[in-house]
Amino acid sequence: MTDPRPIETVDPDVAHLIEADVKRQDTHIHLIASENFASRAVMEASGSVFTNKYAEGYPGRRYYEGCQIVDEVEDLARHRAMELFGAEHANVQPHSGAQANMAAYFATIKPGDTVLGMRLDQGGHLTHGSPVNFSGQLYNFVAYGVDPESEVIDMDEVRRLALEHRPKIVLAGYSAYSRLLDYEAFRAIADEVGALFMVDAAHFIGLVAGGAYPNPVPYADIVTATTHKALRGPRGGLILSRAEYAKAIDKAVFPDTQGGALFNQIAAKAVCFREASTPEYRQYAHQVVRNAKAIADALAERGVRIVSGTTENHMFLVDVRSIDEELTGKEAATLLDNLGITLNRNAIPFDPRSPFITSGIRIGTPAVTTQGMGEAEMVQIADLIAGALHDRTDEDVLEGIRMAAAQLAAKFPPYEAGFPGHV
Ligand SMILES: Cc1ncc(COP(=O)(O)O)c(C=O)c1O
Repeated sequence: MTDPRPIETVDPDVAHLIEADVKRQDTHIHLIASENFASRAVMEASGSVFTNKYAEGYPGRRYYEGCQIVDEVEDLARHRAMELFGAEHANVQPHSGAQANMAAYFATIKPGDTVLGMRLDQGGHLTHGSPVNFSGQLYNFVAYGVDPESEVIDMDEVRRLALEHRPKIVLAGYSAYSRLLDYEAFRAIADEVGALFMVDAAHFIGLVAGGAYPNPVPYADIVTATTHKALRGPRGGLILSRAEYAKAIDKAVFPDTQGGALFNQIAAKAVCFREASTPEYRQYAHQVVRNAKAIADALAERGVRIVSGTTENHMFLVDVRSIDEELTGKEAATLLDNLGITLNRNAIPFDPRSPFITSGIRIGTPAVTTQGMGEAEMVQIADLIAGALHDRTDEDVLEGIRMAAAQLAAKFPPYEAGFPGHV
């Protein structure tokens, strides 16, 4: 029999660390745009006995016996994903967003081929051609950026670069950008140069699920995503595609780039797709966007510059130089975390500082919205952030902000009493 003792007895070291992070999660205001609080049901599936099962291959075509039940789990997850997003095909096996992107490239292009994606220092992701990532090492990435005035993606530049470099893939999608994507224009450019159109929807797929951001599926050949950001599922990746790429995508995930799928995570993805198809989730997704707008507007009213002026999704970037020319993103993010407001530093477009220091911070609302906060609380948070950054050397002011942040977090606990780890 397996050891029946609880983790506190078997491994007090790890038990203590879990407890410490429960406390951190309960007591901070969480504004990291890629984080959220998964539900009890998602966590129960993720922590279930499916972690014990090996199942390489796909339903009905496995390399192991005993897969009848996990076949049902995978079918449930992929059919729910197809229905939720209106996709012809879904692969729910990618272990992460990076793995999903790797499989999408493997399925469609060869090493050395050209991909046109968003500049990493203007919002694109590591897997969109960073030299330190497999994508930049295997493929020839060419990058488009934002217009220096509007800070919105410059579609004329996208077209000009596409015509000049004739990419095999035109890639839209971002980790740090607050506006809508013009799928129609991207599609037209891809068609003009005979490229595939791929969307990395990792950040905003949860908003798409709730109808709060336009769905890329009708426009793109392939859409990659993560399930753990605004979508509020387990950590993991997802690939949606047109039927004609289904076989190539499935092969690119297994056996090309992964081994056995993580069935505990796939079961949890199935749960999150069900949760994301409810009216309550639709309301949640719309509230995430309203909250992002509310905090951005409130900061702007307090003299803080919002990159591109506004947000149309769940996040935005703040130019911290608008508070004080000397202030850096690193200093702002560290100070705020010490006060119980957790977010990340982020480069802003045309940032003169290094990616480690930066002139910006990124603010996102998926987690605070799950906690039940609305526009009124966003205005309070904007006050706390602006106050802390303006008066960052005044210990009395900072102490007041620390207490106000703790009080606000305490009013909106992410989990109910009695939830594992909670008293
Ligand atoms: C646009 C985009 N693509 C891919 C990823 C990678 O996801 P993961 O961290 O699950 O590998 C991220 C994660 O931040 C992302 O923002």
